[in-house]
Order: sequence, then structure tokens, then C-alpha cells
Amino acid sequence: MPRIPISSPRPFVYPTSGLPLHCGAVSLEALARRHGTPLYVYSADQILERLRLFQQALAGRDHLVCYAVKANSALAILKLLAGQGAGFDIVSGGELERVLAAAPEAAGRVVFSGVGKTAAEIDRALQAGILEFNVESEGELELLAARARKLKRTARFALRVNPDVFAETHPYISTGLREHKFGVDIRRALAIYKSVAGNRWLEPHGVSVHIGSQIRSADPFGAALERVYKLVRQLRREGIALKSIDAGGGLGIDYHTGAFNPAEKVAEWAAAVTGALEGFEGRLLLEPGRFLVAQAGALLARVLYVKRNGNKTFVVTDAAMNDLIRPALYQAHHEILPVQPRAGKPRTVDIVGPVCESGDFFAHDRKMLPLEPGDLIAVLDAGAYGMAQSSNYNTRMRPPEILVEGARARVIRRRETMADLLGPESI
Ligand code: LLP
Repeated sequence: MPRIPISSPRPFVYPTSGLPLHCGAVSLEALARRHGTPLYVYSADQILERLRLFQQALAGRDHLVCYAVKANSALAILKLLAGQGAGFDIVSGGELERVLAAAPEAAGRVVFSGVGKTAAEIDRALQAGILEFNVESEGELELLAARARKLKRTARFALRVNPDVFAETHPYISTGLREHKFGVDIRRALAIYKSVAGNRWLEPHGVSVHIGSQIRSADPFGAALERVYKLVRQLRREGIALKSIDAGGGLGIDYHTGAFNPAEKVAEWAAAVTGALEGFEGRLLLEPGRFLVAQAGALLARVLYVKRNGNKTFVVTDAAMNDLIRPALYQAHHEILPVQPRAGKPRTVDIVGPVCESGDFFAHDRKMLPLEPGDLIAVLDAGAYGMAQSSNYNTRMRPPEILVEGARARVIRRRETMADLLGPESI
């Protein structure tokens, strides 16, 4: 596998000592002054670089990168990726509307996953002419057939199979075991494809698999795809020739500082997947989310207070768990950097938000250079499942989002206002 040269895993760097943290060529201090905090900042260049890694690693074969919209569904990011040929993996009618709003020309590059699609969502996707429904149950396949007949549109489908492969990750984001709610048992798949073989409204288009998220080793991907390819060969013997195999998403990043080469990771992943699919001539679909956008993003926050309780020091920031819930929900680690480092000895602190829950923290017992009220910090690797999982808890307005492209920074979502929050309510 050829090595693909790549710059650093993160676009957030101190250009030279003494200068504040930058995103590419843009100073984070300047952005915070201009747009306030909390504030999400993303590097478009980094996102595109990650997309290219997958595209280059798979250049020798028919493939389509279907970005998992759930990781970060900002319209501007969808448009950016669509512009470079990406397709999309969606899991709701809402995500479909986002794709149609940002890049209507990409409708034919959409795969629709999810265990609970409604008839209305299926109809909209059929009318939009999406590439494939990743069907997760027999009940859903029945409904899909009924809706397709009603609308007189053939539905291309893939069964999402559950390969019963264990992937080492957080239990909330592991999905490939029989005990999980996702997909259909791979042992049942052959019978299900055969049961709908004569249905003129259903086209057996592919098969899909997604074993979980933040998976650091390439092995489970290979193991899952070996099982999937075996099924594809069985189907072919039965006269059912699938056109695509969807390998899902799930490739993990390094949330710590550790040496991490994204190009190598992608190459390992691609070797495991294409190795398992040797001989398959159809199209390979993939659904990366986190790997494309996580490291491109940071959440900027300002320190409000530094207080001591007992022998603990708390740094209270103006960002909170409603802006980035990953530490609270998954005990996730995020590196945190001072935007303008101060001289002095590092101290062990908790970095917390203003929300009224002890779970509202970004870091526990973290060694940080001295921080004082008014200082800016950057919570790194926040581009995936950050804003996308944000909420208005504690009636907090969601932060704006800035996209940095080269030396240019633009607002891709403005800060929410009180009117946005109160609008849907009546007394
Ligand atoms: N495809 C399907 C069917 C999925 O369910 C997911 C993620 C992906 C693709 C993209 O996976 P990725 O490449 O991003 O790992 N909120 C959690 C992650 C939840 C992942 C859910 N499914 C977190 O912040 O870690």
C-alpha cells in the first residue's frame, strides 16, 4: 500500500512560539474576539484532506465515500464534501433534507441507514432517488416494498447485516454483535434476500455492515467483511448478484497526543477491507464520519472563573456539556490547549462548564499550564459528534460555527438567539 504524505493530524497549531493557537492561517484569538465564545471552528482543508486519503487509498477500485452526516451535519460541510464527489450516509428524513438543501445533485449518492425509518421518510427518499436503502429488519423491507409499489419507484436495497464481530470500543458505540439492535442476523440474510427475489419493486442492490464507532484496529473491519463477502458469494450462487458492499464507518482517531498518522490508518483500514473482498468486482461503499471531521474541529471557550474546592482546582469555562457532551456521555478524552499559553508550572485542574450537573466537565485531573479568567482554551477533536449532539439544556444558546478555508474564515452557522429558542413555544 503506497504511503500517502499528509500534514499533521490536527490543523490547530502554534505557528511559532509566542503566537496564539491558529487554525491553519487563522488566529483563534481573533476569531473568538470577533464572534464570541463558545465557538466551533473547523478546518475545511483538513476535512478535504481526510476525504482524499480514502479516495486515494481506494483509487484502484470502484468506490464511493458516503460521509456519515450524523457526525457533523453543517450544510457548508456537506456542500464541501459533495463538491469533491462524496456521497452521504443518512439516518433520518431530517438528514436527507440537509443533503438535499446543501447538495441536491448528490441525492443519487445517498445511502439511508437506521433501524426505525418511517413511511414518510421512505417516501421522501424514494422520490429523491437515493442510491440505496440499508434495510435493518424484515418489517422495514416489507414497508419499503409497499411504499415503492405505491409510488411506482423501484427501491434499491441492501440488507444491513449484523456479522457478530466484536470491536473494541465504548459499549454505547459498539454495534456489530448479535445482542445489538442493529441490522439483521447475517445467518438470516440469505433467506431474506431470497424471500423478496421476485418482487418487482425491490432491487437487491447491495449488502451493508457497520460494526461500531471509534474502532482503532483494522482487524475487526476485515473480519466483518470476510463474513459479508461469504454471504455475497452464496447469494451469487443463488442467482442474486449484488452490485455493492457497504463497509460502514467506524474508523477511530487518536484523541490523545500520541503519534498518529492518519494516512497510515486509512491505508491499514483499506488493506483490511480490500483484502477481505479480494475477487469482488462490484462497488465498495464506505461511511466514515468521525475520521473525516473530528480532528478538523475545535470548541473554543473562555475561562470565567478559577476556583478551589477542598484540594481541587476548577477552571469554569463558558462552554458546557450542552455544547460538547462526549466527555459526559462516553467518558471521552479531549485534549485541551490554552490558546495563548502562559509561562509557569502546569497545575492539575478540572475543566468544567456552567451547567448544573456534576457530569458537566471537559476534563478531570488534567495537567494544564496556568489558566486565568479571560483566557481562551481550545477543546480539540471536537469536529465530530460535537455540535451534532449539542442541545439547549439549561436554555443555553448553541454556539456559532466557523469554517476556515485557507486564510479565509466564514460563519457557517450564526449563534442562536433567545428568539430561536422561545419561538416554538406558547404560553
Ligand atoms: N454508519 C452508520 C450506520 C453509523 O451508525 C455510524 C455511526 C457511522 C456510519 C459513522 O461512524 P464513524 O465513522 O463516525 O465512527 N456519538 C458517538 C458516536 C456514535 C456513532 C454512531 N454511528 C461519539 O461521539 O463517539
